[in-house]
Amino acid sequence: MPATRTLFFCTECGNESARWAGQCPACQAWNTLAQAPAPARGKRGPTLRAGAAAPARLGEGPSAPRSRRRTGIAELDLVLGGGLVAGSVVLLGGEPGVGKSTLLLQAAAALTSDSGPVLYVSGEESAEQVALRAERLGPGTRDVLFLAETDADAVVAAALSESPSIILIDSIQTMRVDDVDGTAGNVGQVRECAARLQRYAKSTGAAVVLVGHVTKDGAVAGPRTLEHMVDVVLYFEGTRGAEHRILRAAKNRFGSAQEVGLFTMTGAGLVAVEDPSEVLLSNRSRSAPGAAVTVTMEGTRPLLVEVQALCAESTFGSPQRVSTGVDARRLAMLLAVLEKGTGVTFGRQDVFLNVTGGVRLGETAADLAVCTAILSSARGRPVAHDTVVLGEVGLTGELRPVPGLARRLAEAARLGFERALIPDAAEDPGPSADRLRVTRLPDIGAIAEVAFA
Ligand code: TYD
Ligand code: MG
Repeated sequence: MPATRTLFFCTECGNESARWAGQCPACQAWNTLAQAPAPARGKRGPTLRAGAAAPARLGEGPSAPRSRRRTGIAELDLVLGGGLVAGSVVLLGGEPGVGKSTLLLQAAAALTSDSGPVLYVSGEESAEQVALRAERLGPGTRDVLFLAETDADAVVAAALSESPSIILIDSIQTMRVDDVDGTAGNVGQVRECAARLQRYAKSTGAAVVLVGHVTKDGAVAGPRTLEHMVDVVLYFEGTRGAEHRILRAAKNRFGSAQEVGLFTMTGAGLVAVEDPSEVLLSNRSRSAPGAAVTVTMEGTRPLLVEVQALCAESTFGSPQRVSTGVDARRLAMLLAVLEKGTGVTFGRQDVFLNVTGGVRLGETAADLAVCTAILSSARGRPVAHDTVVLGEVGLTGELRPVPGLARRLAEAARLGFERALIPDAAEDPGPSADRLRVTRLPDIGAIAEVAFA
């Protein structure tokens, strides 16, 4: 047997290095380098050759704009950027139990009735288990081709004989090939299986969706090692137990990576949330201090979310800063600006921050709402119920305009809000301003005077 070159992959970021180290040179994570044999050359299961390499014009041949297949699940299509692109590979990541298999099976059913055979491969569940689940999801799932298989080469062979237009692999961590060392789920196996399926996709034009389990501690060879290889990376998130699920694009070669889709898990599978803003605000209490509503742009859609804060006297030495849905460093900065701008001190206060519905606020437009919620909790005074708060907070306490103001305000007005607090420097608030009382604020200090009921 020829000596195989060994490589090391970081299970966190997928970085490839020639020798082992305790710390990943790329992402600085500790103890994440795992050994994997470099792909053996010339030994690649069923071989697929796309033909001799010959250049072609961009508008012609394989490089011409490719066709997309709508999955029939509107929220999924939105996040995909319009549907599955022929010949592409999509990675669907998420924690176990979040609903990845359910989403795929539902998509498979919708796709089968629309665009021919869909092959659903499960390495985790038996045909009986999947059939049982399929029954709950409705009659459309009956025509989905099912294969219980963990050998990636066998999957490719089955695909070659059935020629499905779409292949769903549940999950990539259960797949293995014989000519690579290690058990299923190890980095080398995961990468090699994905590479073979990708080669199949590229040469036949079938779209492949790979499910990848993500664990919180990253102990398992995570799908992160695949992020570089695939065309689209989607993450399915949601707290287990809570019924809402958020589907988010982390990378998309064929569309925006900003879009999110919202689902509710029901007894009959995942159902798209028709009015996300309304749902996210549905359990709002009328008069509790420590909450402020803002409008965040998730891709092209404005979404109303509630930011909640709790300030409480710390019982231990250094005060805690716990934040869910807002970057912890951003929170630290906003607290410092708040102290300077309003005189309220947080040196002996624990500050907890949460965004309802599991939404992550990645944009600075939510700054002012975060500050308002914190101030509201610190002062014990609720924010007026009919008010939305929008604005970026600068280091000197100045308020900066937010992009897409008119669309955000239109969404707030649609949901019955009557008042908006926006930065002084903001652009024209648009026609919906007629339905809202718009108050312009010069700096963070002004919020204390106008926000509270
Ligand atoms: P599953 O799709 O198996 O999650 P994953 O593939 O990401 O591990 O399903 C997750 C949970 O959803 C499971 O605990 C059962 C529940 N569920 C429903 O509530 N309704 C349904 O119709 C189905 C199929 C599952
Ligand atoms: Mg599953």
